[in-house]
Amino acid sequence: MKSCVVVGTQWGDEGKGKITDYLAQESDVVVRFQGGNNAGHTIKFDGKKFALHLIPSGIFNPKISNIMANGMVINPKALIEELEVLNTQGVNDYKLFISDRAHVVMPYHMILDGAIEASLGDNKIGTTKKGIGPAYTDKASRHGIRICDFIDLETFKERLEFNLKIKNPILKMYGLEELDLETVYNEYAEYAKVIKQYVCDTSLLLNGLLEDNKKVLFEGAQGVMLCLDHGTYPFVTSSSPTAASVPINTGISPSYVKTCLGITKAYSTRVGEGAFPSEFDDAIAHQIREVGNEYGTTTGRPRRIGWIDTVVLRHSRRVSGLTGLSVMLLDVLSGLEELKICTHYELDGEVIDYVPASIKDFKKCIPVYQTVKGWSEDITNVTTFEQLPEAAQEYLNTVSELVGVPINIFSVGPDRTQTILCKEVF
Ligand code: GDP
Ligand code: IMO
Ligand code: MG
Repeated sequence: MKSCVVVGTQWGDEGKGKITDYLAQESDVVVRFQGGNNAGHTIKFDGKKFALHLIPSGIFNPKISNIMANGMVINPKALIEELEVLNTQGVNDYKLFISDRAHVVMPYHMILDGAIEASLGDNKIGTTKKGIGPAYTDKASRHGIRICDFIDLETFKERLEFNLKIKNPILKMYGLEELDLETVYNEYAEYAKVIKQYVCDTSLLLNGLLEDNKKVLFEGAQGVMLCLDHGTYPFVTSSSPTAASVPINTGISPSYVKTCLGITKAYSTRVGEGAFPSEFDDAIAHQIREVGNEYGTTTGRPRRIGWIDTVVLRHSRRVSGLTGLSVMLLDVLSGLEELKICTHYELDGEVIDYVPASIKDFKKCIPVYQTVKGWSEDITNVTTFEQLPEAAQEYLNTVSELVGVPINIFSVGPDRTQTILCKEVF
């Protein structure tokens, strides 16, 4: 059987959507396994541009199955809106399945996300305010509403009533308006009726497809540095985007997880708060932000810019078992005289080769750079590795050596066609 996990190796927005869509042309199944509509995955082909938040990036291939697995937190209103937008863009022939065990993001999750962030002041996480943290909190505290309970309207009303008894006093504490059971129920019951048609036991479905030797792609959201366990806690999201989280978040055996393709930008970006050792903010950062259009797909926020950081990439390789890399946005670096690659950190006068757990220490890390030659040529029409300018080839080779995995793919523009396969992924 063949499977591949698409994992963001940095702080998200590496181009996971683009690569998932590209690989989905030759796959049978795409599974989103964690996160919610905090994600924003951009896909471009045939002159059209799409922004997906909840829906798997295989949705444009009518032949394949798209699964939203149990590890996701799903905002039903946002999902219906996303399906409507796709419909207006002419995308209406697809196979979509939603896990009956996924959790529902309710309006109080979003309100609380905003209220908690506001109360944190300068210590805020910089969340997307989509209610992701509060929804996963409810899952862990066993107050959550699962999709199977949501589409059974009697159970939904009971669970909602129970939740409002807990949430309304908290909303009041923040000085916010309490939510009315009937109002929320009436609105959300309508959403439940719409999404019911897509709901099934996706673990059963997926195991059947794997047993039939189907080619399965697992599409991660966010990135390893935003992982709840292995990221820059507390400046992280509330789920794990690593390959290790796939079995539990989809209901399959770990033995089904075969290859793991790490998606990285040719540089680094981060949106939201938290330390970022290789960050820089000068005219070159400004150029990268504008050429790379580094503004959030979900929130429109300008992304912070940094050099590629191979300490981060080796951390991702280790905790997520990367078997190869897909290096994205290489075209954005064209025209820079020289480029920097972070190879190590200096912490309290000592050279280290790991991401420290303590956020205080991570903040203190000074990047150690290897400076390499840049290239001036426009590379957006390149179709093979050999067509790249020598300096760009060198750059990719150096990154590959420093991370210790081969480059499977590199990308020279946002369009599906601007994707160069150097080594088969699966
Ligand atoms: P994701 O969240 O990992 O799917 O990534 P996003 O879609 O949030 O951000 C990646 C951005 O880079 C999107 O705007 C893509 O259209 C764009 N992109 C992807 N690959 C390339 C590339 O090789 N070159 C350029 N210039 N843009 C790219
Ligand atoms: P994709 O899938 C970039 C960041 C937020 C914030 C932190 C916590 O498009 O790569 P959350 O709303 O999840 O509680 O926010 O995580 N974040 C992302 N940054 N890309 C994403 O998704 C992100 N999803 C969450 O900016 O710093
Ligand atoms: Mg994104």
